[in-house]
Amino acid sequence: MKIKQIQAREILSSGATPSLEVKVVLDNGAVGMASVPFGASAGIHEACVLFDKDVKRFGGAGMLKAVADVNDKIAPKLIGQNPLEQKKIDQIMIELDGTDNKSKLGGNAILGVSLAAARAAAMAKKMPLYAYLRECFHLPYKKYVLPKPMMVMIEGGKHAADSTDLQEYLITPVGQKTIKENIRCGAEIYLALKKVLKEKGLNANVGNEGAFAPAGLKDNEAPWQLILQAIKNAGYTAGKDVMLSADPATSEIFTNGKYHLKKEGLTLSSRQLINYFKKWVAKYPFLSLEDPLAEDDWESWPIIMKELGKKVRIVGDDLTVTNPERLAKAIKLKAINAILIKLNQIGTLSETIQTIEIAHQAKLWSIVSHRGGGETNDAFMIDLAVATNSEFVKVGISRGERVEKYNRLMEIEDELSF
Ligand code: PGA
Ligand code: ZN
Repeated sequence: MKIKQIQAREILSSGATPSLEVKVVLDNGAVGMASVPFGASAGIHEACVLFDKDVKRFGGAGMLKAVADVNDKIAPKLIGQNPLEQKKIDQIMIELDGTDNKSKLGGNAILGVSLAAARAAAMAKKMPLYAYLRECFHLPYKKYVLPKPMMVMIEGGKHAADSTDLQEYLITPVGQKTIKENIRCGAEIYLALKKVLKEKGLNANVGNEGAFAPAGLKDNEAPWQLILQAIKNAGYTAGKDVMLSADPATSEIFTNGKYHLKKEGLTLSSRQLINYFKKWVAKYPFLSLEDPLAEDDWESWPIIMKELGKKVRIVGDDLTVTNPERLAKAIKLKAINAILIKLNQIGTLSETIQTIEIAHQAKLWSIVSHRGGGETNDAFMIDLAVATNSEFVKVGISRGERVEKYNRLMEIEDELSF
């Protein structure tokens, strides 16, 4: 089996700016397609998303340079390679790029090829993608334990204007027997929340990730009251059927060594911000806190872990950026007990799976996530989460590009139960 053709094109992402789609064709006729997401509040240590910076097209957000990198630079090196050798394919691209953050060819260009090659190989083997990934990477799991949904209900920060300073208020439906039923539970709470917002005269329009983004909330804690009301109205019990999760994405509010909560007129030290979240955890049924501290505030993370890590999962996202080296450091410092996984943060499939495996070996949870700004309809992240027995997927819940992920997860649940 050999790679015969690789071709990239510019497509539109969920934010109406371009992203990249890549097609890999094999000599036996199998075809793999994949498209690449990117974030609105990306961490500074992520792999580079190569934009054209030509202000005459999409205000500079075009991706024709990345398209050309795939077609002119990567394709000639990979044509003739065996698509089943995923690690080798990724390694060739890593070496061709030669930078620490994939800034020469672009993490978007490299990831598009990496994912499309895996899909083509799975197609050729007539295997579901998740099963192929498990086999290809010799993953050590015998059974499939499907990831539970983590759903954004209210969003603010960089994902929505005029809402909260903090980025995401999530629910994690965990009480039902099947994934489908947990998804139904989450969707019903989302619909109940829409009614709660309307009753309170708040706007129920949605932000980047399909969550509500009302203006006029009195502070950054107010969303929890609304969400708890919605859980109750939908007939579920918080703390039993549904837990709460927060992604305050605090790198976005960190400047000059302090955290700024503009809505509340607060400027907090790391210690004070930890106390702020401790109050939340004492009051509400939390499952996890993601990026409660900024991406380079390394000395404060072990403190929050020590004080809250037994009660909730402390999740690294901008801190760890799906990077095996940053994850190893976080494990050594006892900074986190869960990691967010985003394929485009590191830029190859092999490195992403390596990171998940390091996390699982250290007994950390792995939460495979969508992106805020530039999502696509590709549900690759779901097959990745299933292949690796990741504990959660963080997605949407509304908007087509998010729903696509849950529909794929439910399809897999059906497939596995036959
Ligand atoms: P992003 O945000 O994809 O816009 O960077 C999502 C997150 O922080 O989890
Ligand atoms: Zn995050």
